[in-house]
Amino acid sequence: MAIQTIDGKVFGLHTKNTTYILSINEEGLVENLYWGKKITSIEDFAGVLGHNPTINVQGGQLYREECSSFGGMRFKETSLKVTFADGVRDFRYVVEKTDISGEHLEIVLTDIYYPFAIHLHYEVYEEEDIIRKWRVAENRGKEPILLERIYSAEYGLPGDGWKTVNYKGRWGAEFCAHSDTVQAGKQVYESLYGLTAHTVNPVFLIHKDASETRGDVYFGALEYSGNFKTVVEPVNTGYLNILMGISDTDFAWTLKGGESFETPAVCAGYSAEGFQTMTHILHSFCTRHIMPEELAGKPLPMLYNSWYSTTFDVRCEEQVELAKRAAKMGVELFVVDDGWFEGRVDDTAALGDWYVDKEKFPNGLQELIREVNNLGMKFGLWIEPEMTNKKSKLFMEHPDWIYQYDTREVLMGRNQYELDMSNPEVVDYLIEIFDNLLKENNIEYIKWDMNRYAAEMGSRNRNQSQWKELWYRNTQGVYRLIRELRARHPHVEFEACASGGGRVDYGAMRYFDEYWPSDNTDALDRLYMQQWYSYFYPIKYMRAWLTDDFGMDQRKIPLQFSMYCAMCGSLGIGTDLNKTSDEKLDELAGYIALYKEIREVIQLGKLYRLNSFTDGDIHAVQYVKDKKSVVFAFLDHERYGDSYFHIYLRGLKPDKKYRVKLKEQEEEKSGAFLMNMGIPVILKGDYDSVLIQLEED
Ligand code: GLA
Repeated sequence: MAIQTIDGKVFGLHTKNTTYILSINEEGLVENLYWGKKITSIEDFAGVLGHNPTINVQGGQLYREECSSFGGMRFKETSLKVTFADGVRDFRYVVEKTDISGEHLEIVLTDIYYPFAIHLHYEVYEEEDIIRKWRVAENRGKEPILLERIYSAEYGLPGDGWKTVNYKGRWGAEFCAHSDTVQAGKQVYESLYGLTAHTVNPVFLIHKDASETRGDVYFGALEYSGNFKTVVEPVNTGYLNILMGISDTDFAWTLKGGESFETPAVCAGYSAEGFQTMTHILHSFCTRHIMPEELAGKPLPMLYNSWYSTTFDVRCEEQVELAKRAAKMGVELFVVDDGWFEGRVDDTAALGDWYVDKEKFPNGLQELIREVNNLGMKFGLWIEPEMTNKKSKLFMEHPDWIYQYDTREVLMGRNQYELDMSNPEVVDYLIEIFDNLLKENNIEYIKWDMNRYAAEMGSRNRNQSQWKELWYRNTQGVYRLIRELRARHPHVEFEACASGGGRVDYGAMRYFDEYWPSDNTDALDRLYMQQWYSYFYPIKYMRAWLTDDFGMDQRKIPLQFSMYCAMCGSLGIGTDLNKTSDEKLDELAGYIALYKEIREVIQLGKLYRLNSFTDGDIHAVQYVKDKKSVVFAFLDHERYGDSYFHIYLRGLKPDKKYRVKLKEQEEEKSGAFLMNMGIPVILKGDYDSVLIQLEED
């Protein structure tokens, strides 16, 4: 049974391998008593104290609370801050009711004086080892109540010595991980960019000296793409508090009488066997429960994007020529990027005017689409729905459709303004525009870009008293647009991009089939990024292209290394085919054909991070699906003449025999041999790489 209880006082939430214990303690507070390996005898927890009684501190400060609220004797970061109409900023509750229904537990907390309730929701995914938590705040009275902070979830871990890992990135350098030991103070990971952005990510990862295959790891991801905040605080009463949700910076939500506010959820879990198991849990959970169902179980088509060939100078005849060359290489999806719409000659104009440029496409888009389809490929298009330029018809007609303060000049990011997506009229307008575009043209893929951070969150469409709601309302507007377009066009594949990896999160993942993780395509940089990206995000969700020289770094990397790096994700090609020789085209065609043979294993298989440049000489990843396995190994630079490396495989069946193919060599070995003795590989010089394919007999 996923959820057990003893008299509605102690609750055990069980997944296949883990247990999460809650109790309503003597003070009536909901407290976490345990989170870790499975313990089914929850009666053992009756009467257990979750705190250190010798410390001279009272109340909530002592407990690993499930819903700590500002007020009372609490001096830690709390997950809720409520201001009642009379100015009281203190939520004191009793548990009104608890309700178990299948895999779902709801605990309702009501204030002892004010007509205000918080509903704590828990959803147990037994098979996937995940528990989802979220909250609903309810104003049951008539007076307005101000929510100044309402995080989604709170977690407590006993003791100290915990390490926290998050990303540390910027444009072109997304998903670089960093780790800190939490000793004192607070560790805050926050986005104030209006979207997830490139810096830190709405995930938490807490461990004690864990490695890929060993150690306790606690992790969670927030299903939200707007301003978020994660606070990790070692509380002075002997536990680590982890709080996660919508950022409270510049947030305030007025809950009128009878209204409710629901937070996004956090999906969290525990692995007793290091980061690898965490990744397997999350990848499988995402595929089964988060990613859009239509395409979740299928590998993505091989795409070509013409951006680096033509940039804004898109013209029908030239695109047809590129399409012919792409088809020859084995491409399945041909994508026209920015520059196809009226007036878009560079990045200073036309965003918002989503009409086909008649000069570039005299016979509409259909002419190109027909050619692309006749060549056996699907057709895809770039859009950036949330934006407009000063030089655009849309902005001229609707100057009040952007975020702005009337007394300030609106700041620009990439020469563009952000549309006020909190305004339903704007979203309705965009739904119709893009619905028509998709209806009138056989477009089977959309690359949805977003190239500007949010600022100056004021709106002519809303009273100032609601301006601190705009960040959240904006995110909801974006979700409504994509949700509606998906519902109307379920066969269309949607890729998200925000100047590279600016909107990679579990909120966006509900609506997008794939992600463009970075504009940096330098293969060596990408190997690092891909490694850390894969901790939380599925491989299939990670588009990886081969481009010419658009790496950040001025180095030359051989084609095989770059190609193998891109083949570690959902492969795409972005090279300038106008400048690609016929020999290189043939070479690329060879890689693409090979990728098609193995992509199901890569995109849908289990990932094993075997070796990494961060702590060794080589980088190696392995994918296992059913009877097949694929391994890529990379050497950046040979050092001291060392060129012989052992790669120890994982995830194979010890007693089965596998046919192992390494370059021209083919051998048969047992799973036990391959995992314990390993495979010796020779990697030499600069940027060498090798592919190993395995198949069970
Ligand atoms: C952003 C994207 C690129 C490309 C350009 C087009 O920079 O990250 O991939 O689509 O916009 O303007």
